[in-house]
Amino acid sequence: MNAAIRAVTRIGHSKNYCIIGFERGWDGLLTNCFKKLTPRSVGGIIQLGGTMLHTLRCPAFEDPAGVEKGVETLENNSVDALVVIGGDGSFRGALELSKKSGVQMIGIPATIDNDVYGTDETIGFDTAVNTAVGTIDKIRDTAISHERVFIVEVMGRKRGFLALQIGMCVGAEVILIPEKPIDICDIVKIMDANSKKGKRAGIVVAAEGFGDTNQLAQEMQKQTESEVRLSIIGYAQRGGSPTARSRLLASLFAEKAVDAICQEKGNRAIGLQKGEIVSFELEQSTSNKKPLDLRLLKVAEMLSI
Ligand code: F6P
Repeated sequence: MNAAIRAVTRIGHSKNYCIIGFERGWDGLLTNCFKKLTPRSVGGIIQLGGTMLHTLRCPAFEDPAGVEKGVETLENNSVDALVVIGGDGSFRGALELSKKSGVQMIGIPATIDNDVYGTDETIGFDTAVNTAVGTIDKIRDTAISHERVFIVEVMGRKRGFLALQIGMCVGAEVILIPEKPIDICDIVKIMDANSKKGKRAGIVVAAEGFGDTNQLAQEMQKQTESEVRLSIIGYAQRGGSPTARSRLLASLFAEKAVDAICQEKGNRAIGLQKGEIVSFELEQSTSNKKPLDLRLLKVAEMLSI
């Protein structure tokens, strides 16, 4: 997110815009809390995780009164355009604001979950994948030397984008995602068959949206001879220095966002589609569900023999 804030500020500045950054996300709009951003004030942040503007889950903004207050703040500060950096919830907030104000709304997709429609990738996804892969590689050392089965829970909210890509990259024996439910006994069958083949260690990557991994670990332990352990990676996936790919994506998304503002293209979402940075109707992004390519799961299965 910092890389995107930096790029919007610097490119916007070069086009003679005055840039302000609302603090703590929607809360900054409700409380009229913002700071002026200049090319210098966004220096030294491209390598930092998180966001220099801070962020907050803001239920008050889901209320029509919250949206009204947001519109008032934008108008009082003579804002021409608002760049919203976040996931589909943030995009929906931007769309609600657009229904009540003439301020141009631009959505830059940023979430580790990669679940925003209209973009092949979101800012932060690659960083989270790499963090989890590095962690699971370390967990595998214990799995191998102790001949254990590890269930590793990764984030992703209700979707399996993160788990699927992480699972592929760590060579997981099984990948559990909400989009493809599977019975515990089938997981056990796979692990037991592996054990008979001489593969006594195993990694099961489970998306948090798949279900209760604690219960899963207990059930699996009852049904298999192998020692089963659960490891939940948790918030480590959301932090840390962004990968080069995440920084690049953030910078290019920001450039496209400022371009859409300069061209007064209306309310737009920015995305990466088949290698190209594009902008499209914001409403299209919020009214569609991003599909998950289940062929990847098939490939992962073929690779885990
Ligand atoms: O949307 C990003 C995400 O990290 C999800 O993967 C996770 O389910 C959620 O946020 C955690 O949210 P919170 O920080 O509110 O606990």
